[in-house]
Amino acid sequence: MASPPSSLSGKVILVTGAAKRIGRGIALYLAREGARVAIHYGSSEAEARKTAQECGNAPLFRANLESVAEIARMFEELEGHFGRLDGLVNNAARFTTIDPLEITEADWDFIHSVNLKAVFFCCQQGAHLMKKSGGGRIVNISSLGGIRPWADHAHYCASKAGVIMLTRALAKAFAPEISVNSVAPGVIPFGPLDPEAESMVRATPARRPGTAEEIAEAVAYFLAASNFITGQVLAVDGGLSQR
Ligand SMILES: NC(=O)c1ccc[n+]([C@@H]2O[C@H](COP(=O)([O-])OP(=O)(O)OC[C@H]3O[C@@H](n4cnc5c(N)ncnc54)[C@H](OP(=O)(O)O)[C@@H]3O)[C@@H](O)[C@H]2O)c1
Repeated sequence: MASPPSSLSGKVILVTGAAKRIGRGIALYLAREGARVAIHYGSSEAEARKTAQECGNAPLFRANLESVAEIARMFEELEGHFGRLDGLVNNAARFTTIDPLEITEADWDFIHSVNLKAVFFCCQQGAHLMKKSGGGRIVNISSLGGIRPWADHAHYCASKAGVIMLTRALAKAFAPEISVNSVAPGVIPFGPLDPEAESMVRATPARRPGTAEEIAEAVAYFLAASNFITGQVLAVDGGLSQR
């Protein structure tokens, strides 16, 4: 017997930072579920083209998310292409390791301009477009680092804690047409583990790192859920946030 169509079938869903790694995994998963995926990238054009091709020749949208004007232009192009938006996955982010005593204004802005400011303005632009077509679903990728404090990543942790509060506040602001939820990944490696990640994996109750596929499953859950699930944060971290 044929399996029933997924509830994501035919939905227009934009994934930011979809060229590589977790974003690519999310885009491929959603495309397999029948979604019409839009691939955003910043500088990884070749990888983005490959992901787009594997997503059934999905359209590509380039934007430097540091710029609110570029974000607005990207959503205009998206509306021009699809005429609607059903889902938005704010995945793109930056990560740096710096002793908080040494952080400069430029280091701080480098992280916050993408991790927090861009997430807010993508949510704003996305919500305007979703409201025109009856509503939608937003999933913000935060981090275990937005829940637990990491000393050499204080600036990153603050940006991701900001994403979690933004998720909760926008869930109230955009209800009932649009739900806003967050997935907080634990350690999701794409190569050999550095010593910091190794010690985190050792402390993980599941005794292993996670995969992009596991993050994508959680994202897909929120994208398909009813509007009775909103403002929530789901840690996909093998239980590490419970330690
Ligand atoms: N990997 C992990 O272990 C882990 C753990 C916790 C949370 N997370 C979160 O999960 C998400 C994905 O993680 P990841 O490790 O796959 O991310 P990543 O590879 O570090 O970054 C994802 C993408 O973000 C895009 N990006 C960054 N700055 C941009 C800018 N100014 N304009 C446009 N695009 C920009 C980049 O696109 P281009 O390459 O096209 O420029 C990059 O490929 C992030 O939100 C991250 O914070 C990851």
